[in-house]
Amino acid sequence: MASASRISALNQRFEIPGIAAIVEERKGFPSVRVQTPDVTGEVQLYGGQVSSWKPAGAEEVFFVSSKTRWQEGTAIRGGVPICFPWFADRTEGPKSPAHGLVRTKPWRLEAITHADSNVTVALSTSADETTKKVWQGDYHLLFCATFGDQLRLELIVTNRGSLTFKFEEALHSYYRVGNVEKTKVRGLGGCTYVDKTDARKEKHQRGDVTLTGETDRVYRGTSSSVEIEDPVLRRRILVAKEDSRDTVVWNPWTQKAAAMADLGADEWRQFVCVETANVGDHGVTLGEVQAHTMTALISVNSM
Ligand code: BG6
Repeated sequence: MASASRISALNQRFEIPGIAAIVEERKGFPSVRVQTPDVTGEVQLYGGQVSSWKPAGAEEVFFVSSKTRWQEGTAIRGGVPICFPWFADRTEGPKSPAHGLVRTKPWRLEAITHADSNVTVALSTSADETTKKVWQGDYHLLFCATFGDQLRLELIVTNRGSLTFKFEEALHSYYRVGNVEKTKVRGLGGCTYVDKTDARKEKHQRGDVTLTGETDRVYRGTSSSVEIEDPVLRRRILVAKEDSRDTVVWNPWTQKAAAMADLGADEWRQFVCVETANVGDHGVTLGEVQAHTMTALISVNSM
């Protein structure tokens, strides 16, 4: 179906006039735009990826790179990419794309609903013949993003096949900050982390996390909330979660960022990734018809 008629068919089915509509700002990349007196937000059908959230009176919460390629097969650099069924590089099986199979897939729009002052956008993606050639699991993913004065992100993974599978998952959120060098991540003090910039050594976190160079860490056994303190934008972003046992903190810093074609010069300063995840031996095993839900609940407060 041609782009314009596809967008119009989606709007006929799902639009809530004055509240939410499907738009196509970049050709081939439809998104759901939410706009109410309380909140604006956007979720891309490509990757099922939230790309914007702005509660009334607040500044944009998510970073999206100005150099994102907007190209089929390439992930959008920013917002909240969804990693599934593996995180980062695949450790078993054939060479496969980093962060799994679903961040570079067009997802299906299932519903848009408006209740109280919240708008929920539900999207899904399932295993198909192509994904089964790479990874056998017969998965169904439902992702629900509820935009309001808080942002609730729910990833529901169901095993629709008879074969038990184990998966990793992450909501790879790029939070926009005034200057990553002045940002603190609170709530991880006392935890153990795997330092991916130092041969995956296990280390102990003392106090708050401050970033002073390339940072790529998996904080293990972290089920409670973390807070991103940003003195430049004068705000705190609180990330609460359910059924997530790991928190990943990532920023590529100068050198790595310079080698990334889809990141603008100096843009590495403008974000910190704090990811709600289940990875490594916290991966989730699902038998036939079993399901698992991981949730992130995000709120912003000014300082
Ligand atoms: C982080 C990983 O989650 O994502 C890093 O821990 C990785 O190792 C980063 O470099 C970015 O990944 P990508 O594939 O989006 O460039």
